[in-house]
Amino acid sequence: MGLQVYIDGRFVDEDDAKVSVYDHGLLYGDGVFEGIRVYNRRLFMMDEHLKRLYNGAKVIRLEIPMEPGDLKDKVRETVRINDISDGYVRLVVTRGKGDLGLSPSKCADPNIIIIAATIKIYPEEVYMRGLNVVTVSTRRNNPDSLSPQIKSLNYLNHILAHLEVLHAGADEGLVLNDGGYVTECVVDNFFIVVNGVILTPPTNAGALNGITRLVVFNLAKEHNMEIREENLSLVECYTADEAFLTGTAAEVAPVTHIDERPIGDGKPGPFTTRLMEAFKELKENYGTPID
Ligand SMILES: Cc1ncc(COP(=O)(O)O)c(C=O)c1O
Repeated sequence: MGLQVYIDGRFVDEDDAKVSVYDHGLLYGDGVFEGIRVYNRRLFMMDEHLKRLYNGAKVIRLEIPMEPGDLKDKVRETVRINDISDGYVRLVVTRGKGDLGLSPSKCADPNIIIIAATIKIYPEEVYMRGLNVVTVSTRRNNPDSLSPQIKSLNYLNHILAHLEVLHAGADEGLVLNDGGYVTECVVDNFFIVVNGVILTPPTNAGALNGITRLVVFNLAKEHNMEIREENLSLVECYTADEAFLTGTAAEVAPVTHIDERPIGDGKPGPFTTRLMEAFKELKENYGTPID
């Protein structure tokens, strides 16, 4: 028996977990999703992920057919049924089945899908040496066209950026906005450290309001590190003392090269290392129990 996936209101084997070809999530990328980590049988930052999911749904006027408390319980149940102690949950809400037209008016039943699985992260060695990042030519969606705050099922902008990273043989990509300022990485938030101050682009530059980003803000404050939002040019990034990225899957990961320039001395720096340690301690001791 494979993984049990929650779909269409019930649990089914992963091989039988299928969406209709008329689901507007498939036809138009119409829907929202979250990726959530499980550490030590606890869901990390679960309430924050739920809040972002419901907020995104509200913006696209998609009514999630379950109250947040019940959805949280359903996610816990999915993790439990699959006996995942450390892993990753993909929580998806699609617009549901409609006709071939764009209008969601015929989509009566949004579909909630919950997949709980294990996750492959960067090997430990990558966290020791740091990531090699390149600037991609694909610009982040202009917030006036599609707000990066909606974690929608349409990730083509990110896929185009990722294809460039693959082509360059790099680990990650730095994505700029229309004004040429740094927004974030392909699917991670981005930070630099300059003269003892941690800087990250404001979300209105085009970055997702990342939940790991929020955790890093809290940890930095707890550890008396100064942290600020600021527009960042590439020159500021190249000449920074340290750089790192954050994301649910990547956690806190050092960036040691950008466009073939070593950042600082080309090794993970002290601020990054302290934040990585603080994050590790937090994730192991905090979260919503699944049992
Ligand atoms: C575009 C983008 N930026 C940043 C992030 C990191 O956000 P979080 O820390 O909430 O995972 C993600 C995560 O999926 C993302 O898709």
